[in-house]
Amino acid sequence: MTDKPRVWVSRPTFPDIIARLDEHFEVLSEPVEIKFSAAGLAAKLAGQDAAIVGLKERVGAAEIAGAKRLRIVANLSVGYDNLDLDALTSAGIAASNTADVLNESVADYTWALLLGAARRVGEAERWVRAGGWKATEFTQWLGMDVRGRTLGILGMGRIGQAVARRAVGFGMEVIYHNRSSLPSSVERECNARYVDKTSLLRESDFLVLVLPLTAENRHAIGAYELAQMKPTAVLVNVARGGIVDDAALANALAGGRLAAAALDVFEGEPAVHPALLTLDNVVLSPHIASASHDARRAMTALAVDNVMAFFGHGPHAGRPPTILNPAVLAEASPATHS
Ligand code: GLV
Repeated sequence: MTDKPRVWVSRPTFPDIIARLDEHFEVLSEPVEIKFSAAGLAAKLAGQDAAIVGLKERVGAAEIAGAKRLRIVANLSVGYDNLDLDALTSAGIAASNTADVLNESVADYTWALLLGAARRVGEAERWVRAGGWKATEFTQWLGMDVRGRTLGILGMGRIGQAVARRAVGFGMEVIYHNRSSLPSSVERECNARYVDKTSLLRESDFLVLVLPLTAENRHAIGAYELAQMKPTAVLVNVARGGIVDDAALANALAGGRLAAAALDVFEGEPAVHPALLTLDNVVLSPHIASASHDARRAMTALAVDNVMAFFGHGPHAGRPPTILNPAVLAEASPATHS
């Protein structure tokens, strides 16, 4: 045992990046993926000075109640609906996310899903693997072109903007809805036009969801919203499960009220609504939009940087680069914690 501050890393990541902590911290990394119960997570956090956690760790008042030494929770994702930020802030515990380093990778993957759904890539692949390809009829595998169609984006943060910029190459019109419209310089750069939510639903040929999950936007896309979309439209969710009512979506897809969907995130994941699993017009993936080598390494490095900086080390000493509750820093004199 040393008197170095202790850092717990809740899941296996990249050992060479986590090793940057070794000089200043006693590091305990979980060697395998574990789904911790609330009590199990509380037991892990107790006695730690810092924690690097993933989305499946839900950190709230109960989990930190016994974590008397805990000073920072560094989330390994940009979305942080798994953290109770109010509870952390009240306890004087800093929280950080991995904003920005994954924007381009998530935008690339969004297009992979969008194009995969439009051109039926998953369905065709399943057919080939199942030995279905004896001959192909000329009109058998018809999909949808994207060129000239309207791309709608709900949630126009930096990932939404990166998705929009790519649409230029596909010759698409881009409309978006957001809590507020973007500065006109950003709209010009993204070639995107602000519309109200109803117009977004009605006019989009491809509707991409890139908004954070909050209490207000749970089921932002439910039966009512799906009914307003074109029956030829494609819905892409790379944001969070719970933003879409998956049961209502499965109904719309099965009933021909929506052409197709591509989903990287699900309500209650890793469980997937059973009706979605039976449908051919939906592309399913296991929450991997940020899972490129570069992005996942950069996310890990950023989480490490946040912890290091909080304790007064590294290039950002005293200024964790993506802190979510900076008020905690003012109270905590961060650089004095080592
Ligand atoms: C992934 O979903 C993230 O929020 O980074």
